[in-house]
Amino acid sequence: MTRVFSGMQPSGDPHLGNLLGALAQWVVDQHRAESLYCVVDLHALTSPQDPAELRARTLGLATTYLAVGIDPEVATVFVQSHVPEHAELAWIMQCTAAYGELSRMTQFKDKSDQHEFVSGGLFTYPALMAADILLYDADQVPVGDDQRQHVELTRDLAIRFNSRYGDTFVVPEGVYRTAGARVMDLQHPTRKMSKSLDSPQGTILLADDLADVARKVKRAVTDTDNEVRFDVAAKPGVSNLLSILAACTGADPAELAGTYTQYGPLKADTAEAVVEFLRPIKARHAELSDDPTAVATVLAEGAEHARQLAGATLSRARDHLGMLPRA
Ligand code: TYM
Repeated sequence: MTRVFSGMQPSGDPHLGNLLGALAQWVVDQHRAESLYCVVDLHALTSPQDPAELRARTLGLATTYLAVGIDPEVATVFVQSHVPEHAELAWIMQCTAAYGELSRMTQFKDKSDQHEFVSGGLFTYPALMAADILLYDADQVPVGDDQRQHVELTRDLAIRFNSRYGDTFVVPEGVYRTAGARVMDLQHPTRKMSKSLDSPQGTILLADDLADVARKVKRAVTDTDNEVRFDVAAKPGVSNLLSILAACTGADPAELAGTYTQYGPLKADTAEAVVEFLRPIKARHAELSDDPTAVATVLAEGAEHARQLAGATLSRARDHLGMLPRA
């Protein structure tokens, strides 16, 4: 059976990009593949975190996974640091990656420009991500477009390790949604919606009040020619709205464009679609938040299962590398 792995950082509140680019796909994948979904808390440590907030966000993000419809009866949901094999294989992957390769990661360049303190972990982060994926022999990795370069690096590292030390890792492939893989900021439609950028009016958070959500969509920046056309380069704002509407309703953005002649109705329909998409997720999140122990139990069971799989892969890698077996 196909195996799927993906993860999300508990470094900020989940936004519409996370939901449409990744989580919505995970919900579909869990029914056709053996799926593992991880809250990658070690990745969040690449920039300094407030301890109480990190703890709350880690549980909150796991709650979001369940609220969007990930079913712990069919998928494995766990926290990265509960499975220490991630950190160990990450070291092996750091030693497999070349310094030059890590230097070429555009996300490192972007993030290091934004932060005053640039940790060593921010630089080696893609090696940890490779470890996450390779530990589970994942065939597919459903992610947003911004993770493409990291998934490509993971493939390169798996291929390099296999050719140096013999067949060890499954070489995974990235899976990207046609609509939703790159949700842009509503106020600055040429940059992606992101938890780290300071653009509250351009970012829709799962935590936002639904009236605010509708207002933000209706005030999205478009352009002045008033022609509805799906053309990301020439009409980024309008194309972003079409992509969001398409991702929420399962339609095709270019086809949707043909059904509108004005921006007003496009904005109104997109606002309604996003609100209706978020409404049940928010309700379920509130319900689940009342019972944090139940979420913690899901995470404990998930970690136990994940450790069995991860332990087997790590032993194989250690053995192929020539490390002395543990007593
Ligand atoms: P993170 O936590 O930044 O984002 C989680 C997921 O959301 C997607 N995403 C978006 N999709 C569409 N439009 C956007 N504006 C947008 N912003 C974010 C991301 O592409 C991602 O799929 N390095 C990863 C986490 C990670 C991971 C992994 C993912 C760690 N290990 C192993 C897959 C497999 C990250 O920082 O995602």
